Amino acid sequence: MEFSHSGESLLKVKTDILVLGIFRGEKFSGSVKSVNDALGGVLKDLSGDEKFEGDLGKSVVLQSTFGKIGAKRVLLLGLGDKSGFSHDTVRKAGSLAAAKYKSACGSIAFAPEFDGGKGYIEALAEGVMLGAYEFIKYKTKNGAESGIERAVIVSKDAVRRRFEQEIARAKALADSISLVRDMVNEPPLYMTPSKIADTASAVAREGGMKCEIFDLEEIKRRGMGGLAAVTSGSTEPPRFIHLTYEPRGKYKTTLAVVGKGITFDSGGLCIKPADSMRTMKMDMAGAAAVLGIMKAVARLKPSVKIHGLISSCENMTGPAAYKPDDVIRAYNGKTIEVINTDAEGRIVLSDALSYAVHLKADEIVDLATLTGACMVGLGTYTAGLMGNNQKLIDRILKAAGSAGEKVWQLPMDDELRPEVRSDVADMKNAGSRWGGAITAAMFLENFVGDTPWAHIDIAGPAYNEKDSAWNPRGGTGFGVRTVVSYIMDR
Ligand code: BES
Ligand code: MN
Ligand code: ZN
Repeated sequence: MEFSHSGESLLKVKTDILVLGIFRGEKFSGSVKSVNDALGGVLKDLSGDEKFEGDLGKSVVLQSTFGKIGAKRVLLLGLGDKSGFSHDTVRKAGSLAAAKYKSACGSIAFAPEFDGGKGYIEALAEGVMLGAYEFIKYKTKNGAESGIERAVIVSKDAVRRRFEQEIARAKALADSISLVRDMVNEPPLYMTPSKIADTASAVAREGGMKCEIFDLEEIKRRGMGGLAAVTSGSTEPPRFIHLTYEPRGKYKTTLAVVGKGITFDSGGLCIKPADSMRTMKMDMAGAAAVLGIMKAVARLKPSVKIHGLISSCENMTGPAAYKPDDVIRAYNGKTIEVINTDAEGRIVLSDALSYAVHLKADEIVDLATLTGACMVGLGTYTAGLMGNNQKLIDRILKAAGSAGEKVWQLPMDDELRPEVRSDVADMKNAGSRWGGAITAAMFLENFVGDTPWAHIDIAGPAYNEKDSAWNPRGGTGFGVRTVVSYIMDR
């Protein structure tokens, strides 16, 4: 999608659709008034007929302007209450408009009235690109490939100064999030651990980053017993992936970003019922987010060193599959009693987290579609946040707020700790149902030592079964914006 800036009169801009925004209860003024006047008042009439009041997400469409202005159609979009206006409002508005017209329009124009505010053009462009996202690769008759090719932002000079830079940042994020969505949307037969590794090396090559990939032999040789155990029921070869972003100049911190990369979670021998197994191709969304984050930082170039670590395999049944009662040894030497083979995510993460400690990371952030319990607790739009360092957690919460992603902290209540204590090994991989998201995090805590660590359970928001207000069905790319803004603002 090409973005351009135009200082032309709003009434002259040639575009398939012109998008105007209005606050809840606001009188027609500025661009909205001038367009409405040029159209003889029909926009106002229509708003009245449809009882449109400017609620966020609601809109009024004028399907033809009968040649009275340059734009063929007009979309009047509600921005909600003026007091709640933020970058996120603009991102959502852009996304809604683009999603609505992604197959009907080749060009789209916006007349934003928030002139000059830093980051607003970026948020708008990001929203438009992500709203226009589609995954139609497997439709043999898609035809609608055209999509929105041109986006014009009609505004005064104040916007022009930052335009190029903001569009570039928006593209870096939107491209990265689209990559994550594509990876999650691909079927599991295609998006295998080897395919994730290939994608990782492509991201590394493009971004000038180092990329190391361990195969099964190397995984075993290095003592990554968790990944080796979980992969054992599958014929698909596992991969441990390590990307490194190194800043050009001086840097003070090294961060490790760790992702769960289960390319299909059948539950293993503790097999899932059919209804819960569907959508389990998305169990690599944490790994995909890590690649998205690495792709974005390679372009945005923060002065933080970043290790991207991914533990990837399938969780399947098979003659060699790991079993309940097995005891396995993770990369840091700690032993794990297997209670439930469906609690496989924490097992593969045990190796990746202890590898991050081995790399001497100053901070670790992991992203994982870890527990159904987290979805039960927080619903499908909010991620759970846990960890061992409140300062780090507070900074992640702040980043999530500015990124417009919903993240909520869950308490690491000491009374729950016995849930993952084992009689035969250093710990067990599953306790009772109660507090399942928290006990999973308590299990992970065994592998980070004293390193400040935050765990983001993205089981809910990583994947949409249906189109939601701001995200399309399928992979959402959740987590990329939060972690990238955490990195960029630190
Ligand atoms: N990948 C699942 C968690 C999940 C469930 C993600 C639904 C997204 C949607 C994870 O591996 C899992 O199976 N967790 C079990 C843990 C239990 C066996 C302790 C769960 O949540 O039921
Ligand atoms: Mn599982
Ligand atoms: Zn899983």
